[in-house]
Amino acid sequence: MISNSSFPPLKIRGRTLLPIVQGGMGVGVSAHRLAGSVAREGALGTIASIDLRHHHSDLIEMCKAKPDRETLEQANLIALEREIRAAKALAEERGMIAVNVMKAVRAHADYVRTACEHGADAIVMGAGLPLDLPDLTQGHEIALIPILSDSRGIALVLKKWMKKNRLPDAIVIEHPALAGGHLGVTDLADMNDARFGFARVIEETTQTIESLGLSRADIPLIVAGGINSHEAVRACLAAGANGVQLGTPFAVTQEGDAHPNFKRVLADATPEDIVEFVSVTGLPARAVRTPWLDRYLRNEARIRNKIGLVKNACPTALECLSVCGLRDGIEKFGHFCIDTRLAAALRGDVNNGLFFRGREALPFGRAIRSVHDLLELLMTGVARPAVENRCAYALS
Ligand SMILES: Cc1cc2nc3c(=O)[nH]c(=O)nc-3n(C[C@H](O)[C@H](O)[C@H](O)COP(=O)(O)O)c2cc1C
Repeated sequence: MISNSSFPPLKIRGRTLLPIVQGGMGVGVSAHRLAGSVAREGALGTIASIDLRHHHSDLIEMCKAKPDRETLEQANLIALEREIRAAKALAEERGMIAVNVMKAVRAHADYVRTACEHGADAIVMGAGLPLDLPDLTQGHEIALIPILSDSRGIALVLKKWMKKNRLPDAIVIEHPALAGGHLGVTDLADMNDARFGFARVIEETTQTIESLGLSRADIPLIVAGGINSHEAVRACLAAGANGVQLGTPFAVTQEGDAHPNFKRVLADATPEDIVEFVSVTGLPARAVRTPWLDRYLRNEARIRNKIGLVKNACPTALECLSVCGLRDGIEKFGHFCIDTRLAAALRGDVNNGLFFRGREALPFGRAIRSVHDLLELLMTGVARPAVENRCAYALS
């Protein structure tokens, strides 16, 4: 476990944590091994709830035998339950285990219920406004952490939640110009807008909190996107954040739950390889321009013209999203099966997968290191030498 002497601790619902949070990464990129390893070091580790069945061969067999929506959904809920249990066992009562649920996912309420019933310490909800989260979790002792990108969204959630007598236990502020995965803007041209600057969001949120008669000390703010060094952590905390959330640097750790090829793709990507595009959710997203994404983007206009308005049967039968550009025939949304592409990336299929990634360079460059080494570097600024043989494949 890392001792925290450099920075003030992050306090969430009475727990004292390192001020470094591991963000949820679907499909399967942050499952029990990563989240449990982070929590074991005294930090908040997050399991991404979406489509975890891919980590369980018996559940995949069950889905192959009966490939209907009910069976696939059931498999995912069983997988989430198993992953929470395994993460908690790995954490040995240290840190905190959160479950990330995307509001845009059709079964989000089922994932929230399963997380509450099987001992998750927190629900972190993004990809849509989590206005119903307090209702979904009523009667459960669990921290609630919305992910938002600007102070207007934060003010809206605070006011709605106050009417339900609930406050967020922390808020993640994710920068659309820097983070990996789906981004909190409706229009890509908007992502560099000054309203997303961390210092500005923190300042405006502090004003909102005070104007609502609340105490800033009761609502920790965690900034996310592009944080990749001890100095960057220090700067965020100096700007008023109580913690920082990282995604990509944790995805490429030894404990990251994805295939080694997945980590190689993320770690080897140069700034020119990282692109933004419109996902099937209608939200912009950031990923590495791997062979499939390159082909898709070169043909995007043609695909939209040809099948933009055509409704399709869901290729997996899961119907993962409430609204899907491919299934529902929404021309200006993306037109591909996101679940199939993300699952291919998880298995290390470089040619066919979709590899989400944040914009910035990684703390250890191209090297694959442990969760402990990453947290130690972020907390202290000191990178201890890699243990020989442990990261051999990273040095090629
Ligand atoms: C591979 C990958 C998958 C992600 N999946 C999710 C997800 O399922 N839900 C979510 O809320 N955020 C997701 N994110 C965002 C991260 O949780 C995190 O906030 C973000 O990546 C921070 O930026 P960074 O990668 O620059 O550190 C994902 C990010 C990556 C890199």
